[in-house]
Amino acid sequence: MKKIVLVATVKPFASEAVEGIKKIAEEAGYEFRLLEKYPDQSALIDAVKDVNALIVRSDKVTQEVIDAGQNLEIIVRAGAGFDNIDIQYAKQKGIVVMNTPGQNANAVAELALGMMVFIARNQFNGKPGTELKGKTMGLLAFGNVARNVARIAKGFEMDVYAYDAFIPKEKIAESGVKPVDSVEELFRTCQYVSLHIPLTDQTRGSINYDLLKLMPKNATLVNTARGEVIDEDGLIRIMEERDDFKYISDIKPEKEEVFKEKFEGRYFFTPKKMGAQTKEANINAGLAAIRQIVNYFEKGDTAFQVNK
Ligand code: 3PG
Repeated sequence: MKKIVLVATVKPFASEAVEGIKKIAEEAGYEFRLLEKYPDQSALIDAVKDVNALIVRSDKVTQEVIDAGQNLEIIVRAGAGFDNIDIQYAKQKGIVVMNTPGQNANAVAELALGMMVFIARNQFNGKPGTELKGKTMGLLAFGNVARNVARIAKGFEMDVYAYDAFIPKEKIAESGVKPVDSVEELFRTCQYVSLHIPLTDQTRGSINYDLLKLMPKNATLVNTARGEVIDEDGLIRIMEERDDFKYISDIKPEKEEVFKEKFEGRYFFTPKKMGAQTKEANINAGLAAIRQIVNYFEKGDTAFQVNK
């Protein structure tokens, strides 16, 4: 039986990425299907019914979706964070889940630095701003996105620090970045802190008031990770207490109206998550996803499996 591959993306890939995925799938002898900008979960539930492989972005792959995909063998998250997929339930059902680490990292990193310039220059409103050069930059976690942020920040001649609970200090130092001993030390040291932690039970709400209050004067918190890692009430509290505190994010907060009402000029949010929304990132992540599917079906390769 011909394998069926479904690309299901509420937020569509660039057309070049879709064409590339289709070509690789068809060359491997698979049937290619596309479900873009679908209106609700029921459309996804319907579309997975007879497919063997599923490629998604931030699309929610819940128990219901997994149950509907009776023939599902593999799900690939074309991107880094897989908090949108119930990976344990997939494992119970014998379904392999993978991500495509690093493929969209440069795109996210460029957005982080772009938002930093934007806020440092008062959102290009014509008033005098500040420069990034010589400022301290802290990276919370040192994965693929953070490494790219470090590379670009060094180009701006920023003083770059990082903390990662799982990466030895020597490894961080090898990249020309200054390792620190704790999350607290990172926040205490750096005027800019950029979040690169995944969303897990441990990280949910972990960026809280006690941590944020450690940041030096003229602090800017940068979030291209996930909204849920921030304790939003703690963030609002620090921004109420300190008018030198800014927040820029690729994810809209739950209480956006509070920011609008109280913190004019001190925040910026993209209209929808767009860190990975470049043609290049879509091609990189999309083609990696289909190649991983082909390698899995043809050779049993589980190199990027996240639910082993
Ligand atoms: C990721 O985890 O890869 C990024 O957050 C990008 O997500 P997206 O594919 O939904 O844009």
